[in-house]
Order: sequence, then structure tokens, then C-alpha cells
Amino acid sequence: MINKIINIAKEAGEVIRNGFGENLKIEFKTGENNLVTNIDKAAEKIILDFVKLEYPHHSIIAEESGTKFNSSDYTWVIDPLDGTTNFAHGLPIFAVSIGIQKKDETIAGVIYDVMNDKIYAAEKGAGTYVNGNKSTVTKNNNLAESLVVTGFPYDIKKDLDETVRVFTQFLLKTRGVRRLGSAAIDFCYVASGVFEGFWESGLNPWDVCAGLLLVKEAGGTTSDFRGEPINIFSNQFLATNGLVHKKMLEVFSH
Ligand code: IPD
Ligand code: CA
Ligand code: CA
Repeated sequence: MINKIINIAKEAGEVIRNGFGENLKIEFKTGENNLVTNIDKAAEKIILDFVKLEYPHHSIIAEESGTKFNSSDYTWVIDPLDGTTNFAHGLPIFAVSIGIQKKDETIAGVIYDVMNDKIYAAEKGAGTYVNGNKSTVTKNNNLAESLVVTGFPYDIKKDLDETVRVFTQFLLKTRGVRRLGSAAIDFCYVASGVFEGFWESGLNPWDVCAGLLLVKEAGGTTSDFRGEPINIFSNQFLATNGLVHKKMLEVFSH
């Protein structure tokens, strides 16, 4: 199944790559910053058409067309284009993200970094691979020597003070903080040993389903900002190499 997910992610990615820099039809979803383009919709259609044909009994949670529950134990959790704002502004950092859940557990995850033509793939218990090569988190346990990444919710006015406080603390306590604009790519860079940690709140199931599995299968740790276990419907997400997890949690607790 993982190869089929990889192939369909690449197919959707090709449509996205061809649409990059072209004239886009942009619409606004909730709030003035939350965009959707004709390319998000075209990429999602490719994936949905595939699922309906190959796995007609599977359930689907897809960002642009919503949720369709079927009797099956399997659910496809789909973000056809993660990083739409980057995409619409010509910044080449965006991805296709597809996670598969069996009952309530993610068993496979694929993220396609479209412009770098990189497939990040994981199956539960079988490790994380980047373009077929095994990938692991960093072995750095020193927060002061860590590069970390975050994202800001579209609804930035909510909890603005706490968001800025935490951001400031990480600026002071790490080697650097990045903000890339694609949660899927943020997870990939933790899972492939670029960033020691990633945190963000207010993400949706399609932003995190594949990415959380990629980090775990690469040897990392995931939790909420209090260290409690999370699932794809949680509100807070901290994903690290495991070694700096506790130190990052301390920043949230103060
Ligand atoms: C967004 C990106 C961004 C994150 C937002 C997400 P979208 O997804 O992952 O990095 O900060 O919270 O909604 O809308 O581009 O698919
Ligand atoms: Ca997203
Ligand atoms: Ca999206």
C-alpha cells in the first residue's frame, strides 16, 4: 500500500509543481489569511479519485472536501497542499501529506516535498525513509545547540501573548528558530535530522497525521505542550528528537 500512496502523492505533486508560478484562482476560507487555490482543489481531486477507485470502502478526512465516514477501519487523512500561502506567493516550500489510520492509529504516512522531489515515508514499526534511504532524528541533546521550528496559527490573535512569549524563550534558549510555513515540511525536517524540534498549536488532522508518524518512526518523540500523549485531533503538537523533548517542555510550563 505504501508504494501506492507514494505514487499518488507524486501525481498530485506534479500538478502542484506545474501550477507553481502560474496564474492562480485564489479564494478565502475562514479568516482573511486562510487561502485555497484551484491547485489545492485539483491536487485533492487526484488523491480522492484514486481512493474512491482503489479503496471505495475507506473513510476520508480531506482538507478541502471534508469528511466522509464509511464502515471500514481505514481512514485516509489528506492535505493535498500544505503550505498554500507559500505556494501562492511563489515561495517553494510546500508538500502533499497523506496519512492512513487503522481504527485510531496512524499506520502509514507519506509527505512529498514537491519542489525538492523528496518522498518522506513511514509505516508503523518499519522506520522512516527519505527517497528510500533510512532517516533518523538528530542525536543532539543540547538545546542551546539546537535549531528548532514553529508555525503560527491563521488565527494569530488568539493566544498572541503566549505565542510570542514561547517564541521569545526559544530564541533565547536555542541556536535559532525557523518559521517555514508548512507544518508537513517542519515534521519532515525533524524526522530527517535537520531540526531538533517543532512546535505548533491549532493544527488540523491533515496537517499532522503523516508527520507525527514520520517523526516517531525516525526515533523522535511527540506530545502536547504538557508532555501528554496526542492524537491527530489534539490542539498542541511538540515533535522532537526525544533528547531535547523535556527541555522544550520546560519552556511551555513557565
Ligand atoms: C498550514 C501550514 C502552516 C501552518 C498552518 C496550516 P495549509 O496548512 O501547515 O505551516 O502554520 O497552521 O494550516 O493551510 O497551507 O494547508
Ligand atoms: Ca495544512
Ligand atoms: Ca492545505
